[in-house]
Amino acid sequence: MKKRIGILTAGGDCPGLNAAIRGVTRAAYEMFDAEIIGIHDGYRGLIEGDYQIMKRSDFSGILTQGGTILGTARTPFRNMRVIGEDKVDKVAAMKKTYKNLKLDCLVTLGGNGTHKTANLLSEEGLNVIGLPKTIDNDLYGTDFTFGFHTAMDIATEVIDRIHTTAASHGRCMVIEIMGNKAGWLTLYSGVAGGADVILIPEIPYDISKVAKVVEARAKSNKGFTIIAVAEGAMDKEEAKLKKKEREAKRAAEHFSSSAYVAKQLQELVGVEARAVVPGHIQRGGSPNAYDRVLSTQFGVHAAELIRDGVFGVTVALKGNTIGHNALKDIAGVPKLVPEDDQMINIAKRIGISFGD
Ligand code: F6P
Repeated sequence: MKKRIGILTAGGDCPGLNAAIRGVTRAAYEMFDAEIIGIHDGYRGLIEGDYQIMKRSDFSGILTQGGTILGTARTPFRNMRVIGEDKVDKVAAMKKTYKNLKLDCLVTLGGNGTHKTANLLSEEGLNVIGLPKTIDNDLYGTDFTFGFHTAMDIATEVIDRIHTTAASHGRCMVIEIMGNKAGWLTLYSGVAGGADVILIPEIPYDISKVAKVVEARAKSNKGFTIIAVAEGAMDKEEAKLKKKEREAKRAAEHFSSSAYVAKQLQELVGVEARAVVPGHIQRGGSPNAYDRVLSTQFGVHAAELIRDGVFGVTVALKGNTIGHNALKDIAGVPKLVPEDDQMINIAKRIGISFGD
């Protein structure tokens, strides 16, 4: 019997989404009689009934393509049950589209927000399977999400390139890596790029400690310092504020985390400091080989789950094994960098400062 599979990508995009879509759909076509319905722009398309019946050929040639062929959008979970001015009951609308399309299941590719809505839909009785993507790697229950390793490669290349110009000018270069709540990307690319200081949201920093590192390096024969700072990194004073207060402070000062650190160091140490923000470059372009493989593994496992009728789960990497977790167990549980994380200890062992 034909299985009708709806598939959507939600939240911020990342390299590997198309590879994962290809993995699910190719394996589904190979294993059973599948009809794939591509839902446009994540949950927005499901709410508004914006979709397209896909052909097998639509999934050809997309393995290496960045972004998502289905489009994506941020449809915040906190508003899902809120009926706004448009008077649309979003949950009822999503259920209606699912029913109208006579779907056997819905595959949702996304990060934390996407998984919360996936769990909500599962609790509402829909057959849902999640796939964990995000460059932030902050999804609970999986060792890695796809997109993370590619972003790490890009951020590392940025740090590498900054190294040579930092050395030429004897400057302090502060590179802002994506990640508002979780510092995984900054931590890993900072280690890979040989940063001298790594500042992440989970470890509020003391700028005077960072200044000491910069000062010592300025006086040494190196003469330059590389600082990898996460978008959401904060100093110990800012950490005492409520999230809203902190955001208001930053907005009033017009400071990104890197500009804030660079300005303070310039004042404290008197070095020439520059802030560099690679931004969305970290989410652009082709997935690296690791992410192509991981996305394909995740996609194939999702298709196997569909074949076996296992729903209400999301695919995960645990050690070297691809498995899955119940959506209800992982939804809304962010995976932050623990203070005693092994990578933090490794970084500290080789003299990297966290400003703590
Ligand atoms: O969730 C991925 C991410 O790139 C975060 O690292 C970053 O804080 C955020 O998305 C940026 O969001 P947007 O693409 O909406 O600017």
